[in-house]
Amino acid sequence: MSDTLEAIQHAALAEIAAAAESRALEQLRVNYLGKKGRVTELLKQLGAMAPDERKAFGDRVNKVKDLIAAAIQHRSTQLLQAELAARLASETIDVTLPGRGDGVGGLHPLTRTLQRIERLFNELGFETMDGPEIEDDFHNFGALNIPELHPARAMQDTFYVDNGARVLRTHTSPVQIRTMQAVVAAGRTPPIRIICPGRVYRVDSDRTHSPMFHQVEGLYVAENVRFSDLKYDLQTFLSRFFEQDVEALFRPSYFPFVEPGADVHMRWRDPSKGPDHPGRWLELLGCGMVHPKVFEAVGIDPEKYTGYAFGMGVERLTMLRYGVDDLRLFFNNDLRFLRQFA
Ligand code: FA5
Repeated sequence: MSDTLEAIQHAALAEIAAAAESRALEQLRVNYLGKKGRVTELLKQLGAMAPDERKAFGDRVNKVKDLIAAAIQHRSTQLLQAELAARLASETIDVTLPGRGDGVGGLHPLTRTLQRIERLFNELGFETMDGPEIEDDFHNFGALNIPELHPARAMQDTFYVDNGARVLRTHTSPVQIRTMQAVVAAGRTPPIRIICPGRVYRVDSDRTHSPMFHQVEGLYVAENVRFSDLKYDLQTFLSRFFEQDVEALFRPSYFPFVEPGADVHMRWRDPSKGPDHPGRWLELLGCGMVHPKVFEAVGIDPEKYTGYAFGMGVERLTMLRYGVDDLRLFFNNDLRFLRQFA
């Protein structure tokens, strides 16, 4: 009998010491001290024993029982501490790691250019105006001295809506008309000095042309406005925009709504061809002196007032400023490209 008790004590203590987790320990408690546990089974034999034997054996069994219970308690505390330590180690937060943060967004390169153009012209005394992107034929063509069937319409083929009654505007020039009409309607007279940045549309697509692009229109109407004013203002703007003296070329050009008219070109060097490559002239903008017929269409006296107008390509200016060789990159929304400007 006592052999059994010692054997049980020996086995229990060894198993308890070897238990690797709390759940195993709980199982040992059930195995030895539970209702049907091995120690409990021994206690059940007491009833069959003689009184003196019963007392001695009972004492011994109870001692073993207390011993096992204490061992379980001790091991349990050890295991809980070890488990807690392991959990703390695996769940630690390294507060010295730099935070992931929210990605900081950036402005699209075209937005940057638009804002820069607007600021520079505002400094030169131009007020910013706005106009609709869906225009009627009169404002986009007719009032600008581009009659129906005029070849200039073919140069600015566009997207027609409402059976041709309305067009996605092909340039920002209709804002010239709207502005002058508003001045006349309000009973005011020039000077008028405005710019209009905005989106325009054409059937056009290659490395330097896009079907949707941006222009900034400029209009200055007053008494005695001359071509030299136009040249001076544009040259001033371009030098400030590029922060250097720029090589700008004014070349005679035809637009039905100006007379005389010119295109302004700037030297564009393809960055991939190196700094010594002469590059080529890239057309930046069209400009000229407001045609008397345009003044007549809006009710401004062409004998009293003269004016100049220009329309510049925002994508082209952006390509030159940042050395971008393909205008379509602006619209691909490739973050690897856009991040370079953020
Ligand atoms: C015009 O649109 C005239 N309205 C400009 C003007 C205004 C002339 C006032 C006289 C007085 P043009 O079609 O050349 O002109 O376009 C002006 C500029 O827009 C071009 O010089 C070029 O820089 C840019 N541009 C034209 N087509 C595209 C295109 N498809 N993609 C990107 N930029 C373009």
